[in-house]
Amino acid sequence: MSFTDRDVDYLDQVHAPVDAVLAEMLAAGRKEGIPIVSPASGRLLRVLVLALAPKRVLEIGTAIGFSTLWMASALPAGGRIDTIDPDRARTDRARRYWLRAGVTDRVRVTNEPALRVIPRLAPGIEFAFIDALKPEYTAYLEALLPKMAPGGVITVDNVLWSGRIAAGEHDEDTDALRAFDQRFLHEEQLEATIVPVGDGLGIGVVRPHA
Ligand SMILES: C[S@@+](CC[C@H](N)C(=O)[O-])C[C@H]1O[C@@H](n2cnc3c(N)ncnc32)[C@H](O)[C@@H]1O
Repeated sequence: MSFTDRDVDYLDQVHAPVDAVLAEMLAAGRKEGIPIVSPASGRLLRVLVLALAPKRVLEIGTAIGFSTLWMASALPAGGRIDTIDPDRARTDRARRYWLRAGVTDRVRVTNEPALRVIPRLAPGIEFAFIDALKPEYTAYLEALLPKMAPGGVITVDNVLWSGRIAAGEHDEDTDALRAFDQRFLHEEQLEATIVPVGDGLGIGVVRPHA
């Protein structure tokens, strides 16, 4: 039994409608071709953040702040998201949306490439979300692992890449994501799985450090 587009449409209808600001961001993302997570992935991120109550979240790839807002709206009191994106024009837009949604005080943006930023971060990240350059996914994971708290959770978007990985296609992004999936699912420091939601969401729990 496999899910069909009809199931996905049904799930989008049966859930409560997305909040007004999220709906506006979703419409803008779709209209302008900005790649943002599906509402289904956003809902899963929100539920995970709510369940795990992380005080420190790291997001790699902010864009206009759609996935950030799903997570920020579920943070516990005192929880913060650091989000990284070199594209300041996009993150300035994100900030305006977050302001309207009342979450700006929980989000800090760094406008630099993630691989420059992650090595500077203090360890103890409890929840991470990877959603930036596909050829860099494995490098993000390698940089992140020593920064994660034991029991922390790493989530990753686009790990099914619209079916191109399973279809055996080859191009730079598809090959990079295929290699990433192998690494993620077999990484000894993680207990990881890939959930077929949205464009495929990887979820890995960091095992206690040896
Ligand atoms: C898929 S979009 C992020 C979408 C966002 N997570 C969401 O779902 O709302 C990828 C973003 O990664 C950013 N990006 C590009 N190079 C990057 C880098 N080296 N480090 C971090 N982010 C980068 C792009 O500017 C782009 O906005």
